[in-house]
Amino acid sequence: MRYGYFDNEKHEYVIEKVDTPMSWTNYIGTENMVGVFNQTAGGYLFYKSAEHHRITRFRGNAVPADRPGHYVYLRDDETGHYWTISWQPTAKPVECYKARHGLSYSVYSCEYSGIYAEQTLFIPRGADVELWDVKIENRSGRPRRISVFSYAELSWHQIDGDNKNFQCTLYCAGASYSDGVIEQELHYEENGYQFFTADFEPDGFEIERERFTGVWQNENNPEALEKGELEGRTSWQGGNQCAALHKKLSIPEGKEIRLCFMLGEGNRKAALAIRAKFAHAHARDEALAALAAYWREKQSHLRVNTPNAAMNNMLNTWTLYQSEINVKFSRFASFIETGGRTGLGYRDTSQDAMCVVHSNPRKCRERLIQLLKALVSKGYGLHLFDPELFEEKKETGYKNPTIGVVPDKKSMIHGVEDACSDDALWLVSSIAEYIRETGDAGFAKMVLPYADAEAEPDSVYEHCKKILNFSQRMTGSHGVCQGLRADWNDCLNLGGGESAMVSYLFLWALDNFIKLAQFLGKTKDADAYKAIHKKTAKVCHDTLWDGKWYLRGFTKTGRPIGTDADAEGKVHLESNTWAVIAGGDGPERGMRAMDSVEEYLGTPYGLMLNAPAYTVIDDDVGFVTRVYPGLKENGAIFSHPNPWAWIAECILGRGDRAMDLYNRLCPASWNDKCEVRKAEPYSTCQFITGKNHPAFGEAHHPFMTGSGGWSYFAAVQYILGIRPDFDKLIVDPCIPAEWDGFNAVRCFRGGEYRITVLNPKHISKGVAEILVNGKKCDIIPVINKGQICHVEVTLG
Ligand code: NOJ
Repeated sequence: MRYGYFDNEKHEYVIEKVDTPMSWTNYIGTENMVGVFNQTAGGYLFYKSAEHHRITRFRGNAVPADRPGHYVYLRDDETGHYWTISWQPTAKPVECYKARHGLSYSVYSCEYSGIYAEQTLFIPRGADVELWDVKIENRSGRPRRISVFSYAELSWHQIDGDNKNFQCTLYCAGASYSDGVIEQELHYEENGYQFFTADFEPDGFEIERERFTGVWQNENNPEALEKGELEGRTSWQGGNQCAALHKKLSIPEGKEIRLCFMLGEGNRKAALAIRAKFAHAHARDEALAALAAYWREKQSHLRVNTPNAAMNNMLNTWTLYQSEINVKFSRFASFIETGGRTGLGYRDTSQDAMCVVHSNPRKCRERLIQLLKALVSKGYGLHLFDPELFEEKKETGYKNPTIGVVPDKKSMIHGVEDACSDDALWLVSSIAEYIRETGDAGFAKMVLPYADAEAEPDSVYEHCKKILNFSQRMTGSHGVCQGLRADWNDCLNLGGGESAMVSYLFLWALDNFIKLAQFLGKTKDADAYKAIHKKTAKVCHDTLWDGKWYLRGFTKTGRPIGTDADAEGKVHLESNTWAVIAGGDGPERGMRAMDSVEEYLGTPYGLMLNAPAYTVIDDDVGFVTRVYPGLKENGAIFSHPNPWAWIAECILGRGDRAMDLYNRLCPASWNDKCEVRKAEPYSTCQFITGKNHPAFGEAHHPFMTGSGGWSYFAAVQYILGIRPDFDKLIVDPCIPAEWDGFNAVRCFRGGEYRITVLNPKHISKGVAEILVNGKKCDIIPVINKGQICHVEVTLG
């Protein structure tokens, strides 16, 4: 069953049936102010931090899963009948509704009772305000008297207090109304204000939540809508604040009326300035166009045109969008993570920052610097950290009256016992990738502090060495890297046991570092780390092959994990894919391992993480054995490592298999079977329930997952084979043999490469000839800024 379709022209996903099997979300905001909203306008808004500067409230893990939201109610003033533009919360017949999720905006529409209405939510670039641009058209064939009401539930800034400490929160914030502006005052803060206003003179307002909803009613059937009037008190201290404005309209037959609500950062004065700026519909149209231009610019860095339409759509728009969202918002704002766990996960952020350097070098660089500052000088990263901890201390303006203990920076620096073995290794490769894309060799020389402030600041390059030296030191009895608190798999908790995946990841990081050192002319270092690489590769070769696949590691008692002799957890995806990506162990083992991966882990929806799933608790292996079979890390189709398998297949030259795996996971492939996948078809989800669970095929946790960035990276750099190098651009695809080729436009170091790949012999991999502007070349050189060059790559 399908619920909607991709509008490729507008880069929108159009939801025609808004009663989707799960809540389908979108992100709005590209700078300081950010909103997470679904297809029913449920969701919340925050300024910079979902945890510390929340603007509107959200009730996490509730039924329905979308309350409250930013709602516009319409009311027929002749009959008293009312509805919302976004279907929920009044839930009139679902056929009357549509929603469109676009790039950083969402549009809700309905045609009900002869009235067509639209509500567009977006945050203009350069402004700290969310606009609710509303259009109402009378299609009923007669003049109508229609009232419009807004409603949003305002929050305390700190959601920890807002969720739990009502004995305080209900008495330290209030609101007032004048000049058409509702001003919420977070009285406990210095300068804590939010505003809500509109481009019209309101006929009524309400600032207190329960006076709008009624004490025994809610946003589904608010008392205010039953009455048809808002009779707010102009000022009220304490309680729960809301943002409700009312306008009575007389709409002639066939006429459209446009109006706008504005929810923003700052006090009444700020509101007046914003209102003046966006009062004209023309200004709002321009702001929406500027937002579109912002995304077009990002999309322009790589445009692909292949025989796989779903892939084109995902790479040109949706996977890029998801990857950009991840690098910006990390994992802290969604309907699953509702904002209480702000911070950056070391490993997740390191990987996110590697995937969109071409479209967002500035943000990726900022992330890399934050990660480098959160590196402990012993060479491991702080697993979850707040980057603000390492910035100049800023006054928050909020002093908790009862709990005076401000955590000391030192207490945030955890010891090696809490370190994850993979965290910082990702960063080495991300730094290399940043320099490959930008050519900014100076970045390696930048001097930055370590997290433990007593350690001497050091260059980025030296930070990388610390990371590699840590992994070299932290090996177990077989010489394989120790698993520590966890490796990439949060639930594999091996402690002093060993992780095959991390040893392979170490090899990959070493390889990237050696190439970087060579590029920087540091031959001594390159040679020293080559020796470590060689030694590690030998240990892996000698210890980690099980006969038909690679082991996952060893428990601290030396018991191998992931062997043919295991009844459960026989085959694991991470170690097998990374063994191939790390290279050096030969295609024979690689192919055998990836064949086993398909045999044991393959499903129509992608590859499971391990199989058979664990049913017997074994704390030597880790928490994974305490997760129900088929869910999350215990045998689900964990999306994040699936692209590693595409890369492995591409390295092995098996383009048909890589593409088949790509198609299975690709969210758009499931657009017409949403009853199975349930989640939105425009975003990769963290996991899809595996074979060992009755909900097999159901996807969970959209957007905030490393699979966004990795899907992009793997498909672009390995299937299409377009990847940056320190001194050139590489085009080395591994595609399905039936393809005749494909085209792409790639911007690189300020030049534009118009690429044509030809596949006359219908093979998957192997470049026979490269023509640059019609001339035969061995490589594709870096061209001057502003230049265009034509590249023709023939496979053969
Ligand atoms: C989600 C976490 O955010 C990520 O860091 C981890 O690698 C995966 N789960 C797998 O455990």
